[in-house]
Amino acid sequence: MRIIVVAGQKGGIGRTTVTLNLAAIAGRYQRVMVVDADARMQAQSWMSAVDGETEYELPCDYTASVDPGALRQLRRLEESYDLLFVDTSADTEINPALEAVLDVADLAIVPFISGAVNVAPLRRTVDEYLRPRGLSFRILLNMIDGRSRSQGANLRRVVENDLNSPLFSSHVRLSPGLAWGIDRAGSLRPPIPGDISAATDFLPVALELLHVLERGRRHP
Ligand SMILES: Nc1ncnc2c1ncn2[C@@H]1O[C@H](COP(=O)(O)OP(=O)(O)OP(=O)(O)O)[C@@H](O)[C@H]1O
Ligand SMILES: [Mg+2]
Repeated sequence: MRIIVVAGQKGGIGRTTVTLNLAAIAGRYQRVMVVDADARMQAQSWMSAVDGETEYELPCDYTASVDPGALRQLRRLEESYDLLFVDTSADTEINPALEAVLDVADLAIVPFISGAVNVAPLRRTVDEYLRPRGLSFRILLNMIDGRSRSQGANLRRVVENDLNSPLFSSHVRLSPGLAWGIDRAGSLRPPIPGDISAATDFLPVALELLHVLERGRRHP
């Protein structure tokens, strides 16, 4: 079993979106559980909202916990799951739940979106959370504007040159299919994780992730 934590000190960068979409895609091929370790429980409520849609069957299980003791025991799920995807909160100070998850994880995914204000939190995430633990990580560019020719390349340069950090070679575009919408009754409606429009961008990321995990297994 591999534990993948999706982390980052900046709010609204797509941690929950990335967690749920990768889990939904991987869940079609492997036994997958989403663990919501953010006290606001957005992943949990998102999953239960789409779980209620009759025409859609979730391809993965989900649960929530911010109990550091329970999170440190996640390996106990070894027999039941191939992959755990853990969503976390955006705190600038490490909290006990996040610390527990980082300590047990095999790999961290850190979403990064355009904007000068997002660089410092990314740097702190890498320098304070990941490198001190020797935790392998990949940065994932999210919300890349498909109309801009240079945005993705510019962000990639920042990550590679200024932060000296590894990136997924695929990125996730800014896409209406990944944004929350309003239904006819005026309620907020979550996007379906892993649906066709999400999969267009997340499938290459998921394949790359499986490759990274497989390589890590052969060269521990
Ligand atoms: N690639 C994308 N294209 C369009 N909308 C996106 C994309 N990624 C995320 N979003 C939207 O941006 C918002 C923030 O995403 P999300 O909730 O996943 O971020 P987060 O880092 O988990 O935020 P929080 O700090 O609230 O936990 C959500 O409304 C989500 O639907
Ligand atoms: Mg979130």
